[in-house]
Amino acid sequence: MRKPLIAGNWKMFKTTAEAKDFAAEFKKIYVSSDIQVAVCAPFTQLEALKEAFQDTDIQVGAQNLHFAEEGAFTGEISAAMLKEIGVDCCIIGHSERRQLFGETDEMVNKKLHQAFASGIRPILCVGESLEQRDGGQAFDLVRSQMKAGMQGLHADQAAALIVAYEPVWAIGTGRTAEPEQADEMCGFIRQVVEDLYGEEAADKVLILYGGSVKPSNASELLNMGDIDGALVGGASLVPEDFIQIVNF
Ligand code: G3P
Repeated sequence: MRKPLIAGNWKMFKTTAEAKDFAAEFKKIYVSSDIQVAVCAPFTQLEALKEAFQDTDIQVGAQNLHFAEEGAFTGEISAAMLKEIGVDCCIIGHSERRQLFGETDEMVNKKLHQAFASGIRPILCVGESLEQRDGGQAFDLVRSQMKAGMQGLHADQAAALIVAYEPVWAIGTGRTAEPEQADEMCGFIRQVVEDLYGEEAADKVLILYGGSVKPSNASELLNMGDIDGALVGGASLVPEDFIQIVNF
């Protein structure tokens, strides 16, 4: 049985003081349940959040890591550095990183390997642009992102992977994918995992939907059969909004 995950992606928002305030507020209204919860914050907020959440089961995630183990990569952060401060999971290959920072499938694949090597659970983001959706290429694109991103992973790693389907046209636009549309792609992603790694891995892999998830649409999306959780941007910044999604 897959345990749902609601993960917040704060992107480049919140100072450390603001992150501490969020944690204090969120802890007052959060009740542990059989839903996994994670907050993926900027690097400089991670240690403070680990400390703030230490008496809870709330996980702390990063939003990126470097594809090399270590080296002369000015300004970068390695998986081992994140692990050292207790980071649980890490978003990898978010469309903003692919679009704005030139991340390729090959880099995404290396990052997944670094994350697994350090014991950090990767959240692999895939998803098509509006042009690709309208051009009928969404499924081919997502399949190729999945295959390239997962290259060389073992079946047990595939089973432990978290995939986030985030159609680029639904991110930060207020335009959410229809629940059926999101579920169809999440089911397709599960099929791709089954084709590559077999039924057991496909049954275990967690597949999230991301793109304008908010309190008003969360339960409809999260009750679909192949959607195991959500990767939430804007609505994860406000404790009162995020808790409503967690309690969908
Ligand atoms: O990773 C989450 C994301 O890209 C969606 O952002 O603001 O549309 O929920 P948002």
